[in-house]
Amino acid sequence: MKEMTEIKPEEFNENVFDLIGKEWMLISAEKEKQVNTMTASWGGFGQLWNQSVAFCFIRQTRFTKVFVDGSKFFSLSFLDHAKYSKQLAYLGTISGRDEDKIHKEGLHVVEGKAPYFEEAKIVIICQKLARVPIRGKDFIDQTIQEKWYDGDSYHDMYVGKIVKILVEKKPE
Ligand SMILES: Cc1cc2nc3c(=O)[nH]c(=O)nc-3n(C[C@H](O)[C@H](O)[C@H](O)COP(=O)(O)O)c2cc1C
Repeated sequence: MKEMTEIKPEEFNENVFDLIGKEWMLISAEKEKQVNTMTASWGGFGQLWNQSVAFCFIRQTRFTKVFVDGSKFFSLSFLDHAKYSKQLAYLGTISGRDEDKIHKEGLHVVEGKAPYFEEAKIVIICQKLARVPIRGKDFIDQTIQEKWYDGDSYHDMYVGKIVKILVEKKPE
């Protein structure tokens, strides 16, 4: 198992555009002792309501949404993309409604306020602050509606207060 160390948000010095957009992340939550996760490549980190926050976007149809809605916390796990690209693609294609995809992909859940993955190099634990539905009436640029939501469900934005950041301990 990787040795992880806790850092403060102000010590986090990753390029978040690459990290989220190219490496992708797993959004995970637990409800009634069951865990679900899904791959996501939309989101961000920043300051809101004088707190360090993370935000992500979950379509209404995702099974993971049921878990995030049913929990006070969710986690964002970042795995080495080159090493785990097959697993990340699978967890982003198959729904937890249809199979036990986490175990099928051989990933190991670590229990905590929100579940995360032993295989992760970075873990961010968030306490939910807000769920913000994004709907057709919200778009100022209407091409967004056509491009992303024509025949598909809308996203809800989840804003979470960052309560813990764990990063893989680098050899000295
Ligand atoms: C690279 C990648 C990025 C994705 N990003 C998102 C995202 O940001 N938000 C979202 O709702 N779905 C996203 N998805 C789709 C979900 O991961 C996918 O529908 C998944 O199977 C949902 O699983 P679930 O039903 O178990 O929650 C992404 C998929 C991939 C492959």
